[in-house]
Amino acid sequence: LDQIFTPIGDSLPLVSQDLRKAAIIGAGQVGMACAYSMLIQNTLDELIITDINQEKLEGEVMDLVHGLSFVEPSVIKAGTIEDYQDLDLVIITAGAKQHPGESRLNLVQRNVEIFKSIVPEVVKRSPNAILLIVSNPVDIMTYVSLKLSGLPASRVIGSGTVLDTARFKYLLGQKLKLDSRNVHGYILGEHGDSEVALWSELHIGGSRLDQLIPNWREPEVYDQLDQVYNQVKNAAYEIIQRKGATSYAIGLGVTQIAQAILRDQNHILTVSSLIKDFYGINDVCFSIPAVVNRQGVERQIAIYPSDEELAQLRKSAQLLKEITSGIGF
Ligand code: NAD
Ligand code: LAC
Repeated sequence: LDQIFTPIGDSLPLVSQDLRKAAIIGAGQVGMACAYSMLIQNTLDELIITDINQEKLEGEVMDLVHGLSFVEPSVIKAGTIEDYQDLDLVIITAGAKQHPGESRLNLVQRNVEIFKSIVPEVVKRSPNAILLIVSNPVDIMTYVSLKLSGLPASRVIGSGTVLDTARFKYLLGQKLKLDSRNVHGYILGEHGDSEVALWSELHIGGSRLDQLIPNWREPEVYDQLDQVYNQVKNAAYEIIQRKGATSYAIGLGVTQIAQAILRDQNHILTVSSLIKDFYGINDVCFSIPAVVNRQGVERQIAIYPSDEELAQLRKSAQLLKEITSGIGF
């Protein structure tokens, strides 16, 4: 077919070799929602997707590339870990997911075994990549990836409570009849049953909750707030009960983290990362607000939880540590 082209000159090196290259491991519901969301938001120049289920992988990638003429150009390929050279970002969504009613923490040993076979292979081929962990239980998988990879802590990031924080903003926005982008609040700690709502630093527009509602700790107000927290905490159970998995919102959340990294945005996000001396909490991965940029998780920002919130965060850290100490990796 080349006869339809007339050569103009010798091919020269690319003007810029600075392409944004990433991989997604796991072409399941979450992996493909991440791929689709990143594709339509022009997040990457090149994406390699891998899965142990080769047939499913090929079908998913064919379906995705058939949409390429509708969006900004990029390259998307089904591949294997052998193709993982010079990647900027590796997103891991592979592994077991919850059955209805099952806790994220139940998945730990199955997913640790999968990560043992993946993480060292990735780092061998792309030692400068940032790892973005999504598989559950995400905080423990982030800690395990940090240890298995030997990478600096700034380069191993978990999606953490980015999703829970988005659910919190949405549900509170619905309750207050406000755009969720005007609700500035955080869910912190474990991405799971011990997560913590940071009510004491919640801002609606520019004003703090205790300025707007000075009696917010009294039961008639607090019960309504607590209802929102419980909806956030139980959201995944509710969705999994109905459709077997969650995918769209985490796909959008992962895209936001990927863009913060690849576009060097210095975006404050509640990603999971290694905690060092946070109110005496050490050596565990969970979410506190952190600045995400081309270096990965570059800085964690000071927050001022109430005594009760701090006690809940300590409990969350303790739970994660206990589970981590019981697994072999
Ligand atoms: P899924 O079952 O649809 O997909 C998992 C995929 O991983 C499958 O395609 C499977 O073949 C593949 N896989 C298994 N072992 C592999 C290996 N060694 N190498 C490559 N691929 C492998 O599950 P899902 O719904 O996509 O969920 C994936 C994970 O994401 C689960 O652990 C789930 O709990 C988690 N999750 C996390 C969040 C979050 O906020 N962090 C949100 C939703 C789901
Ligand atoms: C979530 C997943 C299951 O949607 O962790 O919260």
